[in-house]
Amino acid sequence: MQTDTLTLRQPDDWHTHLRDGEMLRAVVGHTARQFARAIVMPNLRPPITTIAAARAYRERIQAAAGDSGFTPLMTAYLTDDIDADEIARGLEQGVFTACKLYPANATTNAEHGVTAIAKIHRVLARMQAIGMPLLVHGEVTDPDVDIFDREAVFIERVLNPLLRDFPALKVVLEHITTDDAVQFVAAAADNVAATITPHHLAISRNALFEGGLRPHLYCLPVLKRERHRLSLRHAATSGNPKFFLGTDTAPHARVGKESACGCAGIFNAPFALESYATVFEQENALPRLEGFASEYGARFYGLPLNTGKVRLRRTAQVVPERIAADSDDLVPFHAGQTLGWRFDGLVED
Ligand code: DOR
Ligand code: ZN
Repeated sequence: MQTDTLTLRQPDDWHTHLRDGEMLRAVVGHTARQFARAIVMPNLRPPITTIAAARAYRERIQAAAGDSGFTPLMTAYLTDDIDADEIARGLEQGVFTACKLYPANATTNAEHGVTAIAKIHRVLARMQAIGMPLLVHGEVTDPDVDIFDREAVFIERVLNPLLRDFPALKVVLEHITTDDAVQFVAAAADNVAATITPHHLAISRNALFEGGLRPHLYCLPVLKRERHRLSLRHAATSGNPKFFLGTDTAPHARVGKESACGCAGIFNAPFALESYATVFEQENALPRLEGFASEYGARFYGLPLNTGKVRLRRTAQVVPERIAADSDDLVPFHAGQTLGWRFDGLVED
């Protein structure tokens, strides 16, 4: 029997880019409408490396989100010379929830990232001791490594040794894109988990080149071949609590995407839950959506589960080609497509 509505505990987004200024004001409502909490990436210019900067950014996010009840969870951007005491104090004061590791130059605004893991050993030891999660952009930056292999090579060269040195460190391998990552995380101890985006579940690298070059589907880590997508779909819908929701919504103005050197990032916040629900339904796994979207992430982070409920309705809805933002506009994920579900909002008791 087909269900026409789906009621879930309100989900959280364990990986978002909310930007700042006008762009923040344009995008935050899309995340705050669907999610109770979101882990906010610190890759601003300049990056968020201090408690004061994170507090101020959190206030700007809350002001932009209005009275939606949305809670931004802040992260610290690890640099070679980040101060371990500042990070530990930030956790203690309830400002930082986690730290983000960008290998230097791996992606957007990652130029201040870490150049060698040895440089942050002291910080990682401290994080392990205080139970603070490390969120990892898992790609090597060596230009000699093929871009489609950068995640698998990162696991072998960087993550494996890191976990050997810090076996109890809580690690989230963010936005995984390969079967190699799925296998690695599934086999690792319980302190290692992964987030999975809507786009890596919905499309493979073929979509990037369908009928021409599709800049709005370009993100990092780049989409991979079909067999990897199938493995991610299996992991996300399996009910294994190591795999949970993180959209990696990453808005860039249309001019920045439609360019001779386009920015990496897919803006998927407006229809994120609808996109995930479509995948879970196709995999005959709708009953497992709630664990993936609303429970496993919070449990991994040691945070309480949300008590509110949201509803999705089985209704065709056409995703707009553009969404106005800033002085330009944004092209959302699934632009022009028809989705079979619609997010109806919070359910009143
Ligand atoms: O596609 C991406 N966009 N990947 C990242 O890692 C960063 C993000 C961004 O900030 O635009
Ligand atoms: Zn990201």
